[in-house]
Amino acid sequence: MKNEFEAKLEELRATALLGGGASQIEKQHAKGKKTARERIEMFLDPGTFIETGLFVSHRATGFGMESSHPATDGVVTGWGKVDGRVVYVFAQDFTILGGSLGEAHGRKIAQLMDLAYQNGAPVIGLNDSGGARIQEGVDSLASYGEIFYRNTRASGVIPQISVIMGPCAGGAVYSPGINDFILMVNQNAYMFITGPEVVKAVTHEEVDFDSLGGAEVHGKKSGVAHITAPDEEALLGQLRWLLSYLPPNNMTPPPFLPPSDDPRRLLPELEQIVPLDPQRPYDMHAVIAAIADGGEFLEIQPEYAENILVGFARLDGYPVGIVANQPGYLAGVLDINASDKAARFIRFCDAFHFPLVTLVDTPGFLPGSEQEHDGIIRHGAKMIYAYSEATVPKLAIILRKAYGGAYIVMSSKHLRCDYNLAWPQAEIAVMGPDGAVKIVFRKEINASSDPGSLTDEYMHKYRAEISNPYLAASRGYLDDIIPPAESRLRLIAALESLREKRQETPKRKHGNIPL
Ligand code: HXC
Repeated sequence: MKNEFEAKLEELRATALLGGGASQIEKQHAKGKKTARERIEMFLDPGTFIETGLFVSHRATGFGMESSHPATDGVVTGWGKVDGRVVYVFAQDFTILGGSLGEAHGRKIAQLMDLAYQNGAPVIGLNDSGGARIQEGVDSLASYGEIFYRNTRASGVIPQISVIMGPCAGGAVYSPGINDFILMVNQNAYMFITGPEVVKAVTHEEVDFDSLGGAEVHGKKSGVAHITAPDEEALLGQLRWLLSYLPPNNMTPPPFLPPSDDPRRLLPELEQIVPLDPQRPYDMHAVIAAIADGGEFLEIQPEYAENILVGFARLDGYPVGIVANQPGYLAGVLDINASDKAARFIRFCDAFHFPLVTLVDTPGFLPGSEQEHDGIIRHGAKMIYAYSEATVPKLAIILRKAYGGAYIVMSSKHLRCDYNLAWPQAEIAVMGPDGAVKIVFRKEINASSDPGSLTDEYMHKYRAEISNPYLAASRGYLDDIIPPAESRLRLIAALESLREKRQETPKRKHGNIPL
């Protein structure tokens, strides 16, 4: 038998747990959206959620705010477990004032972030909000500022992930924007600085929510979203998969999982997958699948800048970050978007102790005035900077082409890669044979009665003497030249030798990466 105090508590708790009430929940469901609590339940290990601030409410007055003080103030906060490991989570509740962020709502998120930061655990935000709470004016803006500051302070200390499951508009986009990863569901989720109505008023452009800032746009075009999925359940599954690779903080290595794959497994299939003819494309995903434990590769930004692949895999149970040119898309050329994508991923890996494995097969940087005018110099420089400053173990294999600047950029020995390998068919030189002989032997070729066969002859000579892996190996720029089939076992053996790598960096406030 409950006493009156307990009975009151039970009643208040029951009301609070209903959020904005049955009709608002119905509205949320009618849009094909789950509620904040349903999402937390789907995301965390069953029965592990501990809530903070259930009874927090706003203290705003005016515009009718004094008549209602819903518990939680529109955001459910707390911690729970994913695969037995602690994570801090907040979920905005659209059924209460449209999930809008007022002073109390913002303070709850900030307090949760402080807990995650102090206790060294990831913080995950499930976003579904109308943005700054209009009735609370500058108090709402101040709360956003407090969150942005904490996002920045925690960057590189704990993983920060935003999951967009509804509106995320205006300045509200900048907390996700500072985070390490943004996940978006393909329906009902959108992110933009100004919505369609403002766009129309200011620029007369007519655009709908999805075309302006839906998951497809951010997954393919802007590169803002790192992972997208067709529905909320699938997206939260992806989130759990992502977390299975991440350490809780920057003082702890990424989680080792006892491997079931043979570390000495040979990969004869690589000879079929990668054609010897350097002009023929192939899918680098197949190479990664062959090398990785159990063929598992968690790809980040899979639909953005597809000429480079980045993502997580395991080698003999240890998580690694993979960066690989994709000859199956634009021949694996490096361009602005590929450089940004790779540089950002490399820096995440370095901050959280993921060894970097680079698979090289690229003809070089994409030529053209569009790339030049959009700043390929500045963007390409990010990759050089990111590889050079990374102090985690770095390993690279040149599969086929590594020409010009791209040879240097793609984790060369000169940027302090620890272990550089090449396959015997690798072509390492200032440029490809065709361009090279036409520049060096132009006079001879023009004067020849049979320019075609003379060009072939020079190209053959160029390959034999210059554009091969043996010159680089003779200089010590490669540690070895290996049969493709040995790629996995060589990487695993090298990683073992590099596991305790320590590298001091010069004392400075911070570098100035070309942004
Ligand atoms: C207060 C808000 C709100 C807001 C929505 N609501 N947004 N209340 N402040 N920002 C309330 C609505 O009044 C409504 O209350 C309930 O939430 C549900 O909203 P609906 O409009 O009925 O929902 P829907 O039709 O699904 O439309 C969702 C929406 C729309 C597209 C998000 O509500 C909207 O455009 N809201 C404003 C978005 C916006 O411009 N926010 C400010 C961005 S600027 P009732 O009582 O009717 O249920 C910003 C600055 C941040 O965020 C600065 C940081 C530096």
